[in-house]
Amino acid sequence: GMKFTIVGAGSSYTPELLDEMGMRKEQLPVKEIMLYDIDEKRLGIMEGFCQRFAKKLGLDVEIRATTSLDKALYGADFVDTQIRVGGNKQRVKDEKIPLRYNLVGQETTGAGGMMKAFRTIPVMLEIAEKMEELSPNGWLINYTNPTGLVTEAVTRYTNANIAGFCSGGIFPKMWAKRALGIPYEQVQYDYMGLNHMNFISNITIDGRPVTEAEFEKIAAQNDDVDLELIKLLGVIPSPYLQWYYHTNEKVAMFKAAPKTRGEYVQELEKDVYAAYADETNCEKPKALAKRGGGGYSEVAMGFVNAVYNNVDTKMVVNVPNKGAVSFLPDSAVVEVGCLVNKTGMQPLHVTEVPSMCWGLVAAVKNYEQLAVEAAVEGDVRKMKLALLAHPLVRQWEYVEKLVPELLEANKEYLPQF
Ligand code: G6P
Ligand code: MN
Repeated sequence: GMKFTIVGAGSSYTPELLDEMGMRKEQLPVKEIMLYDIDEKRLGIMEGFCQRFAKKLGLDVEIRATTSLDKALYGADFVDTQIRVGGNKQRVKDEKIPLRYNLVGQETTGAGGMMKAFRTIPVMLEIAEKMEELSPNGWLINYTNPTGLVTEAVTRYTNANIAGFCSGGIFPKMWAKRALGIPYEQVQYDYMGLNHMNFISNITIDGRPVTEAEFEKIAAQNDDVDLELIKLLGVIPSPYLQWYYHTNEKVAMFKAAPKTRGEYVQELEKDVYAAYADETNCEKPKALAKRGGGGYSEVAMGFVNAVYNNVDTKMVVNVPNKGAVSFLPDSAVVEVGCLVNKTGMQPLHVTEVPSMCWGLVAAVKNYEQLAVEAAVEGDVRKMKLALLAHPLVRQWEYVEKLVPELLEANKEYLPQF
């Protein structure tokens, strides 16, 4: 049987993984689910709920909880990581500090995203290093953001097997289903770039290229980027491109908003955890649907099925480039379509790079590689270089002021600096 470990199991997303296991119970013999968290209260709530939920789903599985990382990782076949170092409290700082300078304040993008990487990478390296010893054949399925930087750090500095994911990999399938009622299996596309910095092209339905009208209907589902702009590009950018293509507008909008996304999520979580804690409840709370990470469990379990049952599956994964994206270094972790099976994943060659996007992708990768090195080495000079390389920061007047402020706001979580 399979041991499936969830690191950061106190997260409200945990039951979605069980839900997906329930749907796949014929194909995936999960015998043990090990819940791990450093937050005992949330872990306790989640353990109780998962016991009730598993029974309701008819899952024949042993669910255990631990605050020992060693116990959690020992002998695990799959380790799903979904941690948030410093919690949403630190996320709010990632959002607010850059905004004060009229810069994008976001948990994975820009200077805020870099600080999230700095807090997270040391912890993720510890998990990966322990896996080298305790579960050397296991797979680390990473959903911890910023997933591209985390995956690059783990692949560069450890020998753990890691696959980095984002629910964005199936967004075009979700959009096509919503817009045209077409099931996932019939929709294919090329996917090129980095996590939260990517472009979707050559969309086909049952192997035939989409018509212009279909393209527009699918594109219109991405409501963060202007539809006229998407039509002009001819390819669909990740919703996160809103921060690059509509920078001034979005910064103004978020400055004027009464709350940041992180503050909103903190409030939402009060209801979500109250529902999970209710011992008479065995339904996923409705408010969960208001979170952005929906769909991630589907991708995670799709990966488990591909690897465990050796089923060739095309999936979008964060993997070392190895030539897939011609204009990026081989060591760069990229988010691209891959063929996944028991041997792991192989990036599919990107045949056509959409014009006018490669400069942006290369610039952000340049930032990411410097940020990963700064995160591992605790190097303030590299931190400054990373921000200078970032298209959303770039100017020295910002870098000079931001660096001390960001370090101060995160000092409890940056042992490496
Ligand atoms: C999307 C992104 C995830 C991110 C999430 C945020 O799904 O792909 O990387 O974590 O949104 O959702 P939240 O509800 O925390 O704002
Ligand atoms: Mn994501």
